[in-house]
Amino acid sequence: MSVSVDPNGRLFTIHTKCSTYQMKADSQNVLLHTYYGPRIDGTDMSYTVTYADRGFSGNPYELGVKDKRYSLDVLPQEMSCFGTGDYRVTGLRVRNADGSRAADLRYTGYTLEKGKYSLPGLPAVHAADDEAETLTVRMEDPATHLQAELLYGVLEDQDIITRAVRITNGGEAPVALEKAASLNVDWQFDSLHQITFQGRHCMERNLVRNPVDHGVRSIGSVRGTSSHHYNPFTIFCQPSATETAGECWGFSLLYSGEFQMETEMEQMGQTRFVCGIHPDNFDWPLAPGETFTTPEVMMSFSDAGLGKLSRNFHTAIREHICRGEWAKKRRPVLLNNWEATYFDFTGDKLVSIAEEAKRLGVELFVLDDGWFGKRDDDNSGLGDWFPNEKKLGCTLRELGRRITDLGLLFGTWFEPEGISEDSDLYRAHPDWAVQIPGRAPNLSRNQLILDFSRADVQDYIIQRMSAVLSDAPVSYVKWDFNRSVCDKFSGALPAHRMGEFAHRYVLGLYRVLETLNERFPHVLFEGCSGGGGRFDAGMLYYTPQIWCSDNTDAVNRLTIQYGTSFGYPVSSMGAHVSAVPNHQTGRVTPLQTRGTVAMAGTFGYELDVTKLTDAGKAEIREQIACFQRFYDLIQSGDYYRLTSCDAPCVAWEFAAEDGGEALVSAVGNRMEGNAPPSNVKIQGLQPDARYEAKICLTEQTPAPMAWFQKELETWEKRNRGLSGAALRNGGLTLPPIWREYQAWQIHLTRLPEGR
Ligand code: GLA
Repeated sequence: MSVSVDPNGRLFTIHTKCSTYQMKADSQNVLLHTYYGPRIDGTDMSYTVTYADRGFSGNPYELGVKDKRYSLDVLPQEMSCFGTGDYRVTGLRVRNADGSRAADLRYTGYTLEKGKYSLPGLPAVHAADDEAETLTVRMEDPATHLQAELLYGVLEDQDIITRAVRITNGGEAPVALEKAASLNVDWQFDSLHQITFQGRHCMERNLVRNPVDHGVRSIGSVRGTSSHHYNPFTIFCQPSATETAGECWGFSLLYSGEFQMETEMEQMGQTRFVCGIHPDNFDWPLAPGETFTTPEVMMSFSDAGLGKLSRNFHTAIREHICRGEWAKKRRPVLLNNWEATYFDFTGDKLVSIAEEAKRLGVELFVLDDGWFGKRDDDNSGLGDWFPNEKKLGCTLRELGRRITDLGLLFGTWFEPEGISEDSDLYRAHPDWAVQIPGRAPNLSRNQLILDFSRADVQDYIIQRMSAVLSDAPVSYVKWDFNRSVCDKFSGALPAHRMGEFAHRYVLGLYRVLETLNERFPHVLFEGCSGGGGRFDAGMLYYTPQIWCSDNTDAVNRLTIQYGTSFGYPVSSMGAHVSAVPNHQTGRVTPLQTRGTVAMAGTFGYELDVTKLTDAGKAEIREQIACFQRFYDLIQSGDYYRLTSCDAPCVAWEFAAEDGGEALVSAVGNRMEGNAPPSNVKIQGLQPDARYEAKICLTEQTPAPMAWFQKELETWEKRNRGLSGAALRNGGLTLPPIWREYQAWQIHLTRLPEGR
């Protein structure tokens, strides 16, 4: 059993393979957070909590004069409440019927069950009944009878614990939730660093590492989506933690809307982390008997550095968040026409690209924006999900057939939440667009947003998309969303409930995605929001892959995919080879480099393959064959970051679970004269086995110089027969970089014994 409860039903110890998490209901029924760290025995860790008279940190009335040493203001807690003596950032802020803002939850009981709870209407980690346990801890405010159920899901073998909260108004008067966080973790003693992932459109998830210090640091989004700007994933770690050593705690919020992650180092040097829905656009009335459920947080702990922590999240997302046919099914190598044609295409043009793509080994052709309504630029047509037969020269179904007759799968693009003012949908239903009556709306990409909080709008989109997906032979949908949400207002909500809008929008989005997934289980959905503007574990519950960034420059992608890899697996990261000069940065990189970088993702192409030279086509054929050969290793092997994304030569590795083989990829990031060699410590191999190192993808355009070919042969000979232990500790010295942005892919395979 991964959860143990003491005989009094007050001490809860959750064990995973390598971690222990503990909480205790104390003498006042306050639920103390007593431990989260390396796996220990069942010791009651509340001995670490000290009690002292802290000036200006008050005491609960029932203890007041008797014990000035007990204060909610300094105790580590599981569920901190605003307004009753805890002055730190808190997780729950309630506005009561009398106007007071106060709650004080105390422990009332628990249940322990086999299996993992689910959250109707929200994404949640899933697991078979014998893989998980659910601990539900109940609390209540004695004054108002507001009740909370803290839900903990435990996946022992995966080192994963989840937490969500169900809040019920058990009283007789209405209340409103102004803030309802999903999680509260308090570290009493640790000195910590926090890692967050910040960015912008075309440059998402740049890693930032800061020491936690006094004051409150808050990241999040009020943009309607999780956003390009901060990702709802964060890590805390020991200051000395590296990829391979040190204690680290990771927290991933399964939510695709507005979120907040607050970190406070308070007066005694303790660190509190609170995360959940962003409170700025949240105000949720709860009538007596009504319940509100927060999104879920998935957390993991590693005592062996950041790399192991990431791998815990990779496995959990692959196995316990992604669902449906495509979670495990081999994903097709795709070609998307966006950067090939933008809006400028005809059906024949698309088919000629598809024909060439097929010859090169592509498996799925994706028709991006511009196939519907009046849509020859981004100023009109959004919402009119009716194929533009004039532009295509045929119906979408016929076009799909032409593509599938080539032996390709066919996919297409939707932006279901978008609506252009210049669209038939807007003309018919102006009230379906999100805008505040009497106020001109903010435009972004010259478009508005459909009010997904409304059931009638959700139903319309479900019906319209279902019609297209049933008519044409569509196996893939790219679900895009190309702006942030402001002017928050819904004509379907009364004024006193407008604070529900932002969250109801996300619930509406989830309902539409869930329904379409159910109706079209054979369709692979890829998430997208101007690239990676909604790249979160919540979306991955509905779309097992997400377009990582609108920036396809291989060198910028080193940074973006590096940052993304901390919380998300390679199988979730949409990555394509595009043309040079790159459309976002103007940079020219070798085709081999673009292929190597895109292979650290779901892999595909986004360029007009009819314009390639014969040598370029041959190289792409070789790339696709290489990707197919290493598919399992890449998509489900163990992922190791071998260097940071700033290294002169950036390297990463996929290792087979049994350590029998590994694929090392490296890209020269900075060309220097007389450059020192790069050496990387290979992980995940069997220490005693011996390996052969083969350079597996060679550049064909331009052909490598003859002397260089010799150099590579010598390199392979020199590195043959090295042991896993040598490669781990002495490392592998990479072949020299001979020109800017040169890439290597090196396949290490175990040699049969005695050779
Ligand atoms: C967004 C996406 C792109 C492309 C365009 C189409 O920017 O991220 O990949 O689909 O929209 O308008």
